[in-house]
Amino acid sequence: MVKPNLQVALDNNTLESALSDVVAVGNIVDIVEAGTILILQEGKKAVSSLRALYPHKLIIADTKCADAGGTVAKNMADAGANWMTCICSATIPTMKSANQKIDQIQVELYGDWTRENAQAWLDAGIKQVIYHQSRDALLSGVSWGDKDLNKVKMLVDMGFKVSVTGGLSVDKLALFQGVNVYTFIAGRAITQADDPAKAAQAFQDELTRLWP
Ligand code: 5RP
Repeated sequence: MVKPNLQVALDNNTLESALSDVVAVGNIVDIVEAGTILILQEGKKAVSSLRALYPHKLIIADTKCADAGGTVAKNMADAGANWMTCICSATIPTMKSANQKIDQIQVELYGDWTRENAQAWLDAGIKQVIYHQSRDALLSGVSWGDKDLNKVKMLVDMGFKVSVTGGLSVDKLALFQGVNVYTFIAGRAITQADDPAKAAQAFQDELTRLWP
């Protein structure tokens, strides 16, 4: 079993604050994400600035794209993103056209989706999904548990590279021990920590302990 990657999500309201957050942790994490909030605020400049800082790192544009997949994907790829996200309710043509213009897309799972939907994404050549607990669901009292674990396992068994995200903290990682999770994505638990570098390192240490 391979140790999962650690991805930091930059959901800042300004590029300035995102860049100041990322320099503290960019060399500790495996993947850097221009978060949805940051992209909505700052556009593709957010991605190109991260690419300028980290020429060789995997950079994700969390566009949660719902339409015009090819155009959004081309814009993000031109800005330097390796991968971008499409929302799971986007149509297969939207996902396919995005997938043609950027190295890979990741289907971001929110709300209702089915195994049949997931099979259709695989059939369309999509290799990655992100299993997500929305921050609004978490705020309303939902928490991580076996129902999530079972869906993540199903997606892994189907052959996806599965990322997991949504209010993650170091103590939540153990729930997924023994499962081939591709990447854990953490935002606030790293960027809003008193010592973001220490927080990112604590995630990495726990991943090494759980996936030796
Ligand atoms: C919000 C997101 C976030 O980037 C992701 O959930 C990680 O952030 P946090 O760990 O702060 O919940 O995609 O839509």
